[in-house]
Amino acid sequence: MEAIKRLGHEIELQCESHGAPIKITACEVVNDGERFIFTGIPKRGTQIDKIFKRAEDINVYLQLALFQPFFDDKILKFVISTQSAGDYNFFNILKSPEFQNNRMNVCIPLGRDMRRNVKCFDYASPSSPHTLIGSGSGGGKSELTRCAITGLIYKYSVCRLNLVIIDTGGNSLDVFHASKHLSHPIAKDIKTTIYLLRKIVVEMERRIALPRQELKNEPVLALFWDEFNTTIKKADNKEDRMALKNLIEDILRRSRKTKIHCCLISSECKNDGIGISKSSLTSRIGLRTSDRYESRAVIECSGCELLPGKGAMLFKSSDQLTPLYVQGSRIFDPDIERIIAHRNYENQDTGKKFIIDEFGSSVPSGSPSSNELTSPTDEKTIISGNQKELADIILWVLQFNTISASRIKEKFRLGNRVDEIMDNLFEMKIISEKFANQPRKILIKTIEDIHESVMEMLSVNGYTEDDVATAIAGRKDQ
Ligand SMILES: Nc1ncnc2c1ncn2[C@@H]1O[C@H](COP(=O)(O)OP(=O)(O)O)[C@@H](O)[C@H]1O
Ligand SMILES: [Mg+2]
Repeated sequence: MEAIKRLGHEIELQCESHGAPIKITACEVVNDGERFIFTGIPKRGTQIDKIFKRAEDINVYLQLALFQPFFDDKILKFVISTQSAGDYNFFNILKSPEFQNNRMNVCIPLGRDMRRNVKCFDYASPSSPHTLIGSGSGGGKSELTRCAITGLIYKYSVCRLNLVIIDTGGNSLDVFHASKHLSHPIAKDIKTTIYLLRKIVVEMERRIALPRQELKNEPVLALFWDEFNTTIKKADNKEDRMALKNLIEDILRRSRKTKIHCCLISSECKNDGIGISKSSLTSRIGLRTSDRYESRAVIECSGCELLPGKGAMLFKSSDQLTPLYVQGSRIFDPDIERIIAHRNYENQDTGKKFIIDEFGSSVPSGSPSSNELTSPTDEKTIISGNQKELADIILWVLQFNTISASRIKEKFRLGNRVDEIMDNLFEMKIISEKFANQPRKILIKTIEDIHESVMEMLSVNGYTEDDVATAIAGRKDQ
């Protein structure tokens, strides 16, 4: 008790020495004394900003593991620990009951509040259908987005949730490229972004027309768009800029009841020059902003300008009206890769998955019966490497509807050469284009689909048309 009093007094002295006198009035003991939360009442005329700005200096003086002022329901508090700076290990958050067992539609883990409780929010709540994450550059938006997406992949199967990721500025989301949850490879340029948004609008309209019972069975479609306003501003012609703006506005406005939810991530919310209405972005997460005006643009009140950075955030939504202070976690690429590999390995039902044909692919993966297949173009088909081996592989894969690289590799003991063989098979229009690490579709449905030059190569290597027809006739799943 004496020690707590002394600590409270030390805080008062420190704040006073930095020109911001306060009175400590209460102390809450959290987690058997692992941390303490002091309540402070500012004395008349105290500029509270000063306390936040000097928090690091005060901590250096007090030599605590953790010292952080924050607002708890608008009341100034100080969280203090002599033992640890906190457990922000993301795996512990993923395993926590708060994340695992709750009644949210789609649960996203944010981090821990100052009492060390895990805080999540409902990304698909009927009252908060879309989310805005904003801060100055380096505030921790991409890091938070990585944790959010990893949480979704970890918790939801492909039949319950699919992802569309747009990241035209950086590469911090590239690590998700192999996830089976992706409806389309990550968009890295403006044309692909426009294409994806158009596809989402089409899907939204299809879902609007669905009876409620059928909509229930559709997976949630989660769109994450990092640096969305920079992407729009970067578009080098007015048509593209208008297309991007109109499409995303349309989605934000009409997708509320279609299980399509957006998370827009932006580093210039204030005066962004785009003027997208933010009214349906009802969940707001502000990390450290450059000033209070930027904070208002993100969370509709000041406070983010006082955050210490490094993943500290204020969260607001229609269920959380006063900003909640949360410390976010970090997750590193190898850990994300492990979670993705683990999820991909599971035999997930992908029947209802929302798949968008790959942008720019001449052979859309969703429509293998496209004209291009039945009337191959004259472009030179590239056949390289060991032709007998390639012919054997072709005859073998023709028996399947889909085939994965690892299966071919195992069967023909190809080692690293499998990538080259897969490229050959794709160039010959035998298998569909690579998309994440998903099995490729066999595009040959009848013997007529096989390009002349490929048939010639097969016959040079001892296979007749009858052999090919028999292989196709015996079709089975991989
Ligand atoms: N939760 C966190 N804990 C510790 N450091 C963090 C956290 N989040 C972000 N950072 C630090 O901030 C840096 C910038 O984060 P980043 O997510 O790239 O910011 P932004 O996308 O807002 O520009 C990271 O490289 C990391 O050093
Ligand atoms: Mg970023």
